[in-house]
Amino acid sequence: KNWRIVETASVAPQQIETNDDLSKLMDTSDEWIQSRTGIKQRHISNGENTSDLAVKVATRLLKKSGVPVGDIDLIIVATMSPDSYTPSVAAIVQGQIGARNAVAFDISAACSGFVYALAVAGGFLMQDPFHRALVIGSEILSKIIDWQDRTTAVLFGDGAGGVLIEEARENCLYGQDLVSFGELSDKIVAGKTKVATDFPGRVTSLSPFSMDGRAVYKFATHQVPASIKRAAQDAGIELNQVDHFLLHQANARIIRQVAKRLDQPLEKFPININEYGNTSAASEPLLLDELVTHGKIKRGDTLVLAGFGGGLTTGTIIIKY
Ligand code: ACO
Repeated sequence: KNWRIVETASVAPQQIETNDDLSKLMDTSDEWIQSRTGIKQRHISNGENTSDLAVKVATRLLKKSGVPVGDIDLIIVATMSPDSYTPSVAAIVQGQIGARNAVAFDISAACSGFVYALAVAGGFLMQDPFHRALVIGSEILSKIIDWQDRTTAVLFGDGAGGVLIEEARENCLYGQDLVSFGELSDKIVAGKTKVATDFPGRVTSLSPFSMDGRAVYKFATHQVPASIKRAAQDAGIELNQVDHFLLHQANARIIRQVAKRLDQPLEKFPININEYGNTSAASEPLLLDELVTHGKIKRGDTLVLAGFGGGLTTGTIIIKY
């Protein structure tokens, strides 16, 4: 058994904050942000939580594909900004769309989350009785960011995207490579809990997003090309056979550097970070849906999906669309 993507969908909050808007809130500038990252604006939620965006994506996937909700066996949401510790975002989605026959849970692998979730869902579809899955990346990062910290605040945005996948007889999953680097776990931290030492005087407090940007930059520009090369080897294909490299949209400079290290033309590396900023687990499905909608990705194309981020983690999947 194998699996294929049936449908794609995405959503972003309506409210847009440009770099100039942010420069009124903190000591930054459009020039600094664009030249370092490629980001021009980001979508910011006005009250919508992570599950609200995920439900919208799930509803769109069902509507676009015409698949009845009762035929969904599995719902996986990748997120680093869930509504709550429990229930999972996936369980909320299941309840809201009425997917009675689905198993639902979240995956926590930050910006690699979507690729990890696809790999897990694909594994489920290799076994009976799983036939169809919704795999969604959804993030409201604006609620976990310290808006006083210009070194991280300018980088992130809110959004969600996802795919409906189903079992396939044809070989559509060519290869994959997932690697985790727990020894670098302190390089990206968000929502760290504090345990009180004065029981019962407990107050829940979570740390905001913090990142060693330089370390992550170095990690990404070395580990992402390595992961893509291993996945290609696993798939038994040459990189020249890949039509599109959909990389996690963290920084346009990282994407250009990866293209260079892989000796592949930049045109094969689509970028939409200018519009959304870094939306973590949502960035790849958002980009995928945009390219499919605009006819830039066609059936039969060979796609590399590559994520990297908190954990630290990297993940690459090579598929036939
Ligand atoms: N506006 C203006 N100046 C700023 C800003 C800002 N928003 N932020 C930092 N600066 C200043 C710094 O204070 C510093 O000033 P100094 O030289 O006087 O000390 C200067 O700009 C340079 O700062 P650096 O941090 O060295 O800038 P750098 O060129 O490394 O770029 C960046 C920072 C964009 C964060 C880069 O390191 C990067 O992209 N890293 C990778 C991040 C990433 O990919 N994360 C993805 C994973 S995230 C996840 O998993 C959720």
